[in-house]
Amino acid sequence: MKRIDEIDVSYKKVILRCDFNVPIKDGKILSDERISSSLETINYLINNHAKIIIMSHLGKVKTLADKKNNSLYLVYERLSKLLNGNVYFSPYTKGKELENKINSLNYGDVLLMENTRFEDLNDKAESENSDELSKYWASLADIFVNDAFAMTHRKHASNYGISKYLPNAIGFLVDKEIKGLECIVNPKRPFTVIMGGAKVEDKLDYIIDILPKCDYLLVGGGIANSFLSVNYNVGLSLYNKEKKEELKRLLSIYKDKIIMPSDVVVLNNNIVTTKNIKDLCDDDSIYDIGDNTLSIYKDIIDKSMTIFLNGTAGKYEDNRFEKGTKSLLEFVSRANCNSVIGGGDAISSSEYFNVNNFSFISTGGGATLAYIASGKLASME
Ligand code: 3PG
Repeated sequence: MKRIDEIDVSYKKVILRCDFNVPIKDGKILSDERISSSLETINYLINNHAKIIIMSHLGKVKTLADKKNNSLYLVYERLSKLLNGNVYFSPYTKGKELENKINSLNYGDVLLMENTRFEDLNDKAESENSDELSKYWASLADIFVNDAFAMTHRKHASNYGISKYLPNAIGFLVDKEIKGLECIVNPKRPFTVIMGGAKVEDKLDYIIDILPKCDYLLVGGGIANSFLSVNYNVGLSLYNKEKKEELKRLLSIYKDKIIMPSDVVVLNNNIVTTKNIKDLCDDDSIYDIGDNTLSIYKDIIDKSMTIFLNGTAGKYEDNRFEKGTKSLLEFVSRANCNSVIGGGDAISSSEYFNVNNFSFISTGGGATLAYIASGKLASME
């Protein structure tokens, strides 16, 4: 794979695939790390007088109504501020209006195209890597540059399909990620993976592939609740009911590797208490891991030579439930080993608590987990 500075991009029309799938809440971008991470590549293209067409997805677009909450317009506004130059927006992802916008660009201008997943409303053309769409997008430019590291685990039209029809290269972010992640793709042992976050189904495939490669898997958040639900009553907590059998199987194979919370912080009738996991009632909801769990997790973190942290241990935006997420970030940042955090929520929480001292901060969540699991970047095969 050539890097962008190994090909000639001067005065060329370049499609740059970024991952601007930023966390947005109440109409505000919570972290612009994914935008700022690609600025080096964008500025390189601007300085080389390319005409730059940026593509990205945002969220999932399954119905017409999803378009409203998943527009890249907010990202366009932030990008314009960060670049302080000629940045334009195309609300169209196909057709004459998009082509006219591209034709009116001057060298050094940037055009951000609306969410590539708007094309999913046409038979999932983007997500199912439609050949027709890939070819069409490729026809809009001379060169394709992939800087969407956080998307490298997916083979979609805008990052994989298109690359088959244009001369292409990777951007500086993808290059930096590959180098920064070397220490977890080939880890020194003990290698500990800490995984939190809401949805276990999203991460289950990665958990299955990572378990043989790591020495410990410490779980928090909805992932922990789902594992706990195999043996305990988790009350009203968020957990996955469908995957119980699979989780049970994993717990029996990897009983010494998968470390679950022994105590948790629960909310019940607006009262917050810490409980042993054996003592939960039907109307308790878990929102964080407890102190005893933190001390067990800390011992494992302290003896690890490599750590990867993805997701959060609880509902950290509420200060009653921030301790688990904050403490894990602090333990990992102080650990005397290779420490990497990755993914939107891990980055947002590290910014929130101002804990940033890691060997590497990866923009990838699923992409980084997939890279650890397989050692490959699917979109670049
Ligand atoms: C991510 O945030 O992991 C990437 O942007 C991919 O998003 P997706 O899981 O919606 O495909």
